[in-house]
Amino acid sequence: SEVTFIMIKPDGVQRGLIGDIICRFEKKGFFLKAMKMVQVERAFAEKHYSDLSSKPFFGSLVEYIVSGPVVAMVWQGKGAVATGRKIIGATNPAASEPGTIRGDYCIEVSRNIIHGSDAVESAQKEIALWFPDGIVDWRSANHSWIYEN
Ligand code: GTP
Ligand code: MG
Repeated sequence: SEVTFIMIKPDGVQRGLIGDIICRFEKKGFFLKAMKMVQVERAFAEKHYSDLSSKPFFGSLVEYIVSGPVVAMVWQGKGAVATGRKIIGATNPAASEPGTIRGDYCIEVSRNIIHGSDAVESAQKEIALWFPDGIVDWRSANHSWIYEN
C-alpha cells in the first residue's frame, strides 16, 4: 500500500523526540519500512527541498537541515501521505493543532522538527533520493488487526 517519507529534522533529534515521533506513527497503524540516521551534505539538502529553491528562506532552510543528523524513514499504510501530514500538523507551528507533532512540540516554522511528503509522487521521489538501495519489504503479523483487507 501507500508509502510516505518522513524525516526527523536536526532539532527533533537534538531534543530527544525520535522515540515519541516513531511511537505516534507506529501506534496509528503504519509500518516502518526503512530508517537511517544521517548527516546530509548541503547539496543533498538542496536537492531534497529543490521545489522551494526560489523561496527567500531557502538558504536558512538548507542551513537548518545540515545543522545536525536527521532521521530518515519510510512509513507504509493506507493513506500514509495525507494521514502522515495530519499527524505532523500544519507547517507553521503557530497554526498546528495540539495533538499533532508540531502542535505539541514546537513554536517556530524554521524549527518545526519534522518533514513529511506532501503527495504520493513526492513521496516516491523522496524515497528514491534518500533510500536509493530500496526499502525493506515485510508484513506485520498485526496487519489484519489494523486493516480489514
Ligand atoms: P516539510 O514537511 O518540511 O516539507 O514542511 P511543509 O511541507 O509543511 O512545508 P513546506 O514544504 O512549504 O516548507 C518546507 C520547510 O521550510 C518547512 O517545514 C519549514 O521548516 C521551512 N519553511 C516554510 N516556510 C517557511 C518560512 O516562511 N520561513 C522559514 N524560515 N522557514 C520556512
Ligand atoms: Mg513540504
